[in-house]
Amino acid sequence: MHIVLGVAGGIAAYKAVLLLRLLREDGHAVRVVPTRAALEFVGRATWEALSGQPVTTDVFEDVDQVAHVAVGKQAELVIVAPATADLLARAATGQADDLLTATLLVARCPVLLAPAMHTEMWEHPATVANVATLRSRGVHVLDPAAGRLTGTDTGPGRLPEPDEIAAAALALVTDRPRDLAGRHVVVSAGGTREPLDPVRFLGNRSSGRQGVALARTAHARGARVTLVAANIDVPVPPGVDVVRAETGAELRDAVRAAAKDADVVVMAAAVADFRPRTSAESKIKKEPGGGAPVLELVETVDILAELAHDRLRAGQLVVGFAAETGDETGSVLEHGQAKARRKGADLLVVNAVGGGRGFGTDANDITILDGSGAVVGTAAGSKDVVAHAVWDAVVARS
Ligand code: CTP
Repeated sequence: MHIVLGVAGGIAAYKAVLLLRLLREDGHAVRVVPTRAALEFVGRATWEALSGQPVTTDVFEDVDQVAHVAVGKQAELVIVAPATADLLARAATGQADDLLTATLLVARCPVLLAPAMHTEMWEHPATVANVATLRSRGVHVLDPAAGRLTGTDTGPGRLPEPDEIAAAALALVTDRPRDLAGRHVVVSAGGTREPLDPVRFLGNRSSGRQGVALARTAHARGARVTLVAANIDVPVPPGVDVVRAETGAELRDAVRAAAKDADVVVMAAAVADFRPRTSAESKIKKEPGGGAPVLELVETVDILAELAHDRLRAGQLVVGFAAETGDETGSVLEHGQAKARRKGADLLVVNAVGGGRGFGTDANDITILDGSGAVVGTAAGSKDVVAHAVWDAVVARS
């Protein structure tokens, strides 16, 4: 495989030497692309000798070979280790002021960034936002390890060990069965907004990231994907068809239209269970001494239960999601099992929320149930890990 190993300017660059050796021993062709600052830590001769390939940092070297485009185009996997705070910032803003950042813009293959920096830099809101932006675009950003840093300080910020980076990176390209090829899957994502008046709505905090991860991974596994997106705040992955919806009613229409021709429908959207009975034509005004308005709510259609009942296409698999916290009346699993039996879907993905898990976070903890409430799968990790587990369960059922 053609791998690009980007190296940014941090003391952990010495560990990238070991990573390079591992990748070469595994039989891969590795083109090392250090930043200028990286060469302050480990010199060009080391990279060239161990990779057996020329090493350039600048877009003005090897201009006749258009290296700033060619290196990224040839890559089947890009790893950046260490990825410094500066590199993350430049990648997040799409800069292309050296060969490594230009390569990141050109590459269409899986990209894994392994950050290493001081804890304060890793935890700074600027870096946190840059990592979130990169992850929302499908870039895989490892969490740094915790431990001894360059000086006497300790904390999160250490580069993970070279063998861990290699394993995580190679899993991105080898764990991709095209087992959904030839199938059309419909995924709903995001959160519905039910209008009160032209400017106000009842909504929820769903970002749409889990649904978008499902769409992205289904596309990677070969499916034709229609994403019905309700107010998502993450980009639509390349290659995925998108239909936008605002309210539960719009989402229902869009999902049902797409589902007529779908092999699998996954309802990952957070759909309002209730909406205001009426929506005012003009903005509701606060009248002095007029008191607070009382909202009258009416129940919405349960799209998932309806899809499970109607079966818009023969043999269609219907998958629902349930966010559960568990309470005095039952555990997360017990509530999920009751819901699985009630909804009639073929699979129900029970997401344990609360305590930093679920909404708006990167970590998830799921159990997949069949329609009888039996456990058919579990997964813990990023939204992509969860998404793959859902598709594994779908493939196993069909
Ligand atoms: N769903 C739907 N239409 C609705 C409400 C929910 O299709 N009007 C779907 C969601 O997309 C999700 C599943 O049903 O797949 C969630 O079930 P729901 O009964 O809403 O469960 P929770 O939101 O977890 O809430 P509760 O426990 O209060 O029932």
